[in-house]
Amino acid sequence: MAIDARTQLLVLLGHPVGHSLSPAMHNAGFHERGRNACYLACDVAPPDVAAAVAGLRALRAAGANVTVPHKEAVLPLMDEVSPTARAAGAVNTIAVRDGRLYGDNTDVGGFLASLAEAGYDPRGRGALLFGAGGAARGVALGLLQAGAGPVWIANRTYGRAVELAKALSVAAGAGVAPGGAGAVAPLAMEAVATVAPRAGLVVNCTSVGLGAAGQSVWNDFSRFPPGTLAVDLVYNPEVTPFLGAAETAGLPTLGGLGMLVHQAALAWEVWFGEKGPVDVFYAAARRALAGDGA
Ligand code: ATR
Repeated sequence: MAIDARTQLLVLLGHPVGHSLSPAMHNAGFHERGRNACYLACDVAPPDVAAAVAGLRALRAAGANVTVPHKEAVLPLMDEVSPTARAAGAVNTIAVRDGRLYGDNTDVGGFLASLAEAGYDPRGRGALLFGAGGAARGVALGLLQAGAGPVWIANRTYGRAVELAKALSVAAGAGVAPGGAGAVAPLAMEAVATVAPRAGLVVNCTSVGLGAAGQSVWNDFSRFPPGTLAVDLVYNPEVTPFLGAAETAGLPTLGGLGMLVHQAALAWEVWFGEKGPVDVFYAAARRALAGDGA
């Protein structure tokens, strides 16, 4: 559809944004659905975030996505925040409604939708997460919402795992049985092998494995029970060293592209009240990755 005076504007606020797949996915979706909208990636330096968010309101944009490193910084700039975004401490989707800014977090639902698409139900299963940053927080929150537990947080810097587990325990609320569904605990990297036999899910929530560096945050998957699903949030390359090591141990694996696609589909619900076209997003993302030389 041609851009005209009624075209709705959506933008990505991030730094950097040069390799983002979101413009390719959303613009393909707009084309497919005949929606008069346009999605652009904007590289916003950290000191300019507040001005960029104010600009959404001034320009009467329809909305935005927010990515690294701005997801936490934009939260206090919203007029209203969804309970999930509040609990995650991060906003990845903004809708401008009658001049008011509504902040939501579709990373959490996107992760769960990706698990569901792979036929995996985390309810009542133990989950071991590597990483204690924003990505780990969103994944852990989603797993707790879906009834998983215990959720163990293993991180290079143990103190950050302790902090995150504490914050999540508060978010999970009272009445959580210690060591059962809904329970969250920090885990020293040296203790991973001890806990592995009780895990049904193991997730890399760090950026280790991104690009051509060929590293994995964990290499020995021999202690995980057969059928434990290994998930990497990294989607480029599609089979990361983490997933490669899990495959070698005979475990089923899931890459990060599904989460990316499903968070985008859920962002449409926030902006337009309808879910975005998942198949179109997968195809556009894969085309963009191939063009990237990935
Ligand atoms: P995000 O919001 O994407 O999660 P972040 O908050 O910077 O980003 O968190 C990055 C995570 O990846 C952290 O858990 C970090 O571990 P530290 O807390 O010890 O820094 C982890 N990470 C990054 N590089 C790593 C590496 N080379 N080895 C192990 N963990 C790494």
